[in-house]
Amino acid sequence: MTRTEIINQLIEDNNYRSYLEIGVYDKKNFNAVKCKFKVGVDPDPKVKATYVMTSDEYFNPKIGKIIPYDLIFIDGLHHADQVLRDINNAISCLSPGGTIVVHDCNPTTEEMQIVPRMQGEWTGDVWKAWQELRATRSDLKMFVYDVDYGVGIIQRGEQELLKTIAKTYAEFDANRKEILNLVEISVPISICIPAFEQYGFGESTLTNLLNSLKDQQGEFEIIVSDNSGNLKEICSKYPKVQYYFNPIKGISENTNFAISKANFEHIKLMYQDDMAYPGMVKEFSKALAIHPWVISQGFAINEKCIKVRPTSPRYTENVIRGKNTIGMPSVCGFKKNNIKFDTNLLTLLDCEFYWQLYNAFGNPYVICKKLIGSRYWDGSTSRKQGNHTDKEWLYLQDKWPQLRS
Ligand SMILES: C[S@@+](CC[C@H](N)C(=O)[O-])C[C@H]1O[C@@H](n2cnc3c(N)ncnc32)[C@H](O)[C@@H]1O
Repeated sequence: MTRTEIINQLIEDNNYRSYLEIGVYDKKNFNAVKCKFKVGVDPDPKVKATYVMTSDEYFNPKIGKIIPYDLIFIDGLHHADQVLRDINNAISCLSPGGTIVVHDCNPTTEEMQIVPRMQGEWTGDVWKAWQELRATRSDLKMFVYDVDYGVGIIQRGEQELLKTIAKTYAEFDANRKEILNLVEISVPISICIPAFEQYGFGESTLTNLLNSLKDQQGEFEIIVSDNSGNLKEICSKYPKVQYYFNPIKGISENTNFAISKANFEHIKLMYQDDMAYPGMVKEFSKALAIHPWVISQGFAINEKCIKVRPTSPRYTENVIRGKNTIGMPSVCGFKKNNIKFDTNLLTLLDCEFYWQLYNAFGNPYVICKKLIGSRYWDGSTSRKQGNHTDKEWLYLQDKWPQLRS
């Protein structure tokens, strides 16, 4: 989930009709907010906000024309004293039942919160303003969603006041959960496994994968789509597994079939000869709450599942030509969509799938944690089927005219 999605959800849930954004920048968020009446305030004339002035000027009744707003998004000058003034001013013109949203409450490094700004990735010290209100305003309800550098929510209500105050970033870091009242956002995921007899190894590879999923924390289901019909008994030993027999053979078809059985909105693909490391579900659930397409680092493993080398997947424009810098689909998770694995492809099926995800969602978000073991071995489908890149590249150019130049 992003700040924009959170704002739009609040508007929809509460039937809000008026929206004020302090600090508009490139208008990306402002334009995407779905509200009947919208006002933006930004002193930078290039932004062309509704009011080209500072927030202090706007909130000064002698200068700005202030009406009560249902939702006020504070994302202007990220200096604690300014943010505190913005929040206090926002409280005084918030309609009953309204919400204030504050961006960048949760810096993840000391450098990114230093004022004045010393690097591109910057939250400023918004957290200090937040802390001040958490320590003094028992008439407010405040919490921070742990997404998008911390999206703070303030409503009229009540809260227990903070007793100790962090004076340094290190103290904040050690107590951020309590100081911010941090709430984790994650989405449930459907782990989709297209399975088959895998040249006699199907039972052992699937068992290994299901064992690696057994103790994962988080909300998830496991869908096994079995092309061989032999894997039902193994699946019955794992309570989280939903087993389906799919008589139509082929890895693309079977992957599409597995995805079609998913009950959740976010898919985590796993090939049966790969495996998950601890934390995989939790990390993908968190990342997919914010990003529509996610890949993670991991290890290349051998036939005995021994780690051979680390893997750092990334998307490049050459992926569609078969230079697969992402690797196995097992490193991938994505929001449900209409993209399918092409049943005519044997070698470039995953490359074309990644290319379509890129066209739909842009570059994937990379989780910099080693969560997936991708098995490179003689039992893999790609090795058994041989390399059909040249023939399939011609086929893809026929299918997608934009690939011809
Ligand atoms: C982080 S950007 C806003 C991003 C935008 N809200 C979004 O969600 O993408 C900060 C903006 O605040 C503006 N700004 C700086 N000082 C300000 C002030 N005193 N009052 C209002 N806006 C200010 C800057 O010009 C800049 O466009």
